[in-house]
Amino acid sequence: MRQQIHLNAFTQCCIGHHSIGQWKHPLDRPLDGYRSVHYWQDLARVLEAGFFDTLFLADVHGTYSVYRGSRDAAVRHGTQFPSNDPTLVIAAMAATTRYLGFASTFSTTYFPPYHTAKLFSTLDHLTDGRVAWNIVTSYLADANANFGLSEMMPHDQRYERADEYMEVCYQLWEHSWEEDAMVRDHATDTLIDPSKVHEINFNGQYFNVPGPHMCEPSPQRTPVLYQAGASGRGLRFAARHAEAIFAMDPTIPACRAAIERLTQALQAEGRQREEVKYFPGITVIVAPTDAEAQLKLETCQQFGSPEGSLALYCGWVGIDLAQLESGKALKDMKTDAIQSLLANFSLIDANREWSLAEIADYLATGSLMPKIVGSPQTVADELERWMDETGCDGFNLVPVTQPQGFADFADLVVPELQRRGRLRTRYEGETLRERYFGVGKPRLNPQHCAYRSLPPWKRGGAPPD
Ligand SMILES: Cc1cc2nc3c(=O)[nH]c(=O)nc-3n(C[C@H](O)[C@H](O)[C@H](O)COP(=O)(O)O)c2cc1C
Repeated sequence: MRQQIHLNAFTQCCIGHHSIGQWKHPLDRPLDGYRSVHYWQDLARVLEAGFFDTLFLADVHGTYSVYRGSRDAAVRHGTQFPSNDPTLVIAAMAATTRYLGFASTFSTTYFPPYHTAKLFSTLDHLTDGRVAWNIVTSYLADANANFGLSEMMPHDQRYERADEYMEVCYQLWEHSWEEDAMVRDHATDTLIDPSKVHEINFNGQYFNVPGPHMCEPSPQRTPVLYQAGASGRGLRFAARHAEAIFAMDPTIPACRAAIERLTQALQAEGRQREEVKYFPGITVIVAPTDAEAQLKLETCQQFGSPEGSLALYCGWVGIDLAQLESGKALKDMKTDAIQSLLANFSLIDANREWSLAEIADYLATGSLMPKIVGSPQTVADELERWMDETGCDGFNLVPVTQPQGFADFADLVVPELQRRGRLRTRYEGETLRERYFGVGKPRLNPQHCAYRSLPPWKRGGAPPD
């Protein structure tokens, strides 16, 4: 069988996610849709009919205020603002689908691990095991004050703290409740056996959490773990925890190199490449013919907002490009925001000196995502080339107009990929993890570090409660 392509639909509960300005496009629907439960349910059904693995929702907690030292550009152009919470619509979408998975971004910086563990256990129950958590440490400095934090913790320290955060979550999900704790025994009038529900008594540098976990074990226990760390420290975190990694690799060679770095980082953690799926982001514009697809792109370009897109990029990298002569020096700069995205313009073309206007233009449709524009055959050829030449496992699709771009992909590209034996023609397994790692494997790989992070009662350090 040919290597299967996994598909995530990547978006956010906002109006402008990666293609800022499309709200003016007559076919773009998030303008009113992002706050309607029906919009999300309709989209979920489209994606399930197109055999996607997940709908993957991004999230941020502050405004993009680095560009020109002000939030005005981001607010004026709706750059990931306003942005609703991604977790609440998941239950509504789960109710109208049977197989589609749902990945939600959730920040280790702003929410305590006890809350996060309860939230994702709840979602895993409500979705019958179809939920994933995109673990982020967050990068927007102006979000901190809103959460009562005086200043942004340095980049690498955020990951140190997140490592400990994960240990708390693993202990709650994997080690607090024994599998057979819920006895439901009428004869002894016992619903739950108290001796099988354990405190975790976690005492760390950042967190002290006694437990027990508030939720009984869900189908996957730990949600499927997504991550996108790409800096030195971020990649180490991803290699330790992630089951799926998504990226913004601008070219095939850049993607291949990133997967090589990931493979080495996984080996350093004692893990194999097969334990992690790798999804580069990609923007697809498809139409029945190449010429029509090109026309579609040109139409979208008329609506793009260069300034709103600069606000997005400057927020990502934490550097105000308006203060620079050109984008030339970017790759050598240091930032406490997203370090890895500084190198992208030199990866696209090492010899080109990008002006600010050219950077803005480039970002306006699909941000830093590589673009594939063409007929279903052209798109399928190119997706196959990415798969074969990089060793990736599928794609995070980020269309320009939404939800039209997702529907076009499902209608036009999906049948072509199925014809080529690259995409499932029916779903198998019940949980999201089984879609990635095989039927009968709803739980984390037994070698995963979650099973090394034991609470005292399992280490023999304290008697069972
Ligand atoms: C396609 C893509 C989308 C991302 N979306 C989010 C997001 O919604 N929220 C967030 O806090 N971080 C997001 N990030 C940032 C990552 O969490 C991470 O910080 C980034 O990839 C850089 O890694 P680094 O922290 O190791 O430099 C995204 C990254 C990529 C590649």
